[in-house]
Amino acid sequence: MRAQLKKFIEAMEPNSVAIIPAAHEATRSYDTEFKFHQDPDFWYLTGFPEPDAIAVIHASSKKPFTLYVRPRDPVMETWYGRRQGTEGAVKNFGADRAFSIEKFEGDLGKLLDGHDKLYYRFALDRKLDDTILNYLSNQRLRRLKTAYPPHTIVDPTIITGEMRLHKSADEVKLMQRAADIACEAHILAMKSVKPGMNEGQVESLMEALMRDRGANGVSYNSIIGGGDNATILHYVENNMPLKDGDLILIDAGAEYQGYASDITRTFPVNGKYTKAQREVYDVVLDTQIQCIEYTKSGNTVKARQDFSIELLTEGMKKLGLLKGKTKDLIKKKSYMKYYMHGVGHYLGLDVHDAGRYFTDQTAKNSRPFAPGMVLTVEPGLYIPPDDKSAPAKYRGIGIRIEDDVLVTKDGNVNLTAGVPKDPDEIESIMNNGKSKAASRSGK
Ligand code: GLY
Ligand code: MN
Ligand code: MN
Repeated sequence: MRAQLKKFIEAMEPNSVAIIPAAHEATRSYDTEFKFHQDPDFWYLTGFPEPDAIAVIHASSKKPFTLYVRPRDPVMETWYGRRQGTEGAVKNFGADRAFSIEKFEGDLGKLLDGHDKLYYRFALDRKLDDTILNYLSNQRLRRLKTAYPPHTIVDPTIITGEMRLHKSADEVKLMQRAADIACEAHILAMKSVKPGMNEGQVESLMEALMRDRGANGVSYNSIIGGGDNATILHYVENNMPLKDGDLILIDAGAEYQGYASDITRTFPVNGKYTKAQREVYDVVLDTQIQCIEYTKSGNTVKARQDFSIELLTEGMKKLGLLKGKTKDLIKKKSYMKYYMHGVGHYLGLDVHDAGRYFTDQTAKNSRPFAPGMVLTVEPGLYIPPDDKSAPAKYRGIGIRIEDDVLVTKDGNVNLTAGVPKDPDEIESIMNNGKSKAASRSGK
């Protein structure tokens, strides 16, 4: 049994049961599907890679782990791929028992009745919601019962979210690998980009390297934006030619054994930042370095956001993008014109990972950083091309710099320090194909 599952069972209340579903395949069009991605909670607890499975976990049982899976089927497997079946679920994934998924609905009485509490996350898988609700309705309508269904239903992410937020040493190793692969892909991009290349060619080079190094692929759709495409936060078309004199913003991460990395670098297409580009870059870089330093035990997520706003507002004043008193500009949220997103998020199996950002239900008390958390640090400035109020030289510049930081007992470790962000180092890599970064700190 996976260590995570063991810990989850320990956190469940006595005499409770959990239903944790796998993801389903998603239709791409007509009879083709998107590449399958397992549900991260299900993956975290079971490591079972197939769609349409359900884990049922009984906290107080000697055999707590039951898996419902797609049955073996020679015809289906010839057409659509191998299946573990019930035998594989027990033999290779540590299930105490395994049954065909077709039996799940009929087994619900046996699985649920007599337990006090059910851990199940309603409102994500509406079909499964219905199956469970139908069962409960029938139970409620029947008067004679030999045992009662659970009287309390709880969202299991109360447990899994907390667990996933604090990474174990084994998880950190996988995240470091995901980070290293993405670092290598970003360095390859720096060495390869030149005027006339298409954004899509950069994307394909990076993604080919990721796959080659053992990543499952990207951890989210890559953002490869040249020129003012960099001012569109989630630009994913990635199909325009790169122009001499423009910047390119690359936000791309790898997924390794389910774990995500998330890196952004912004650099000149022709290998040399203009003076104006560098002025904006330096403001973002300085903010990013200070926010990395800030990401340590005791400081809170909210205070870090405020800190990034303060630093960038000062920077925007210096650049002539904003005028006025810093305090007033912050109060009026004037900075949102050029800095409209958060400074970072939790990172793990999901790129925007599980775990609560507040310690109370009313979302008032921001969470302090603690060892084992991994967060991104990604300030940016985006100056729209048609923004008449901005100095002309800055219009159409979009810059974001993003690293992945592990909070430790004594401070933090930058997992993505392997890809340079110092503008001189980037220019040197682009022009000589060599990195001086390895011996330098990434902070
Ligand atoms: N790449 C998504 C993000 O930075 O949050
Ligand atoms: Mn991010
Ligand atoms: Mn990103």
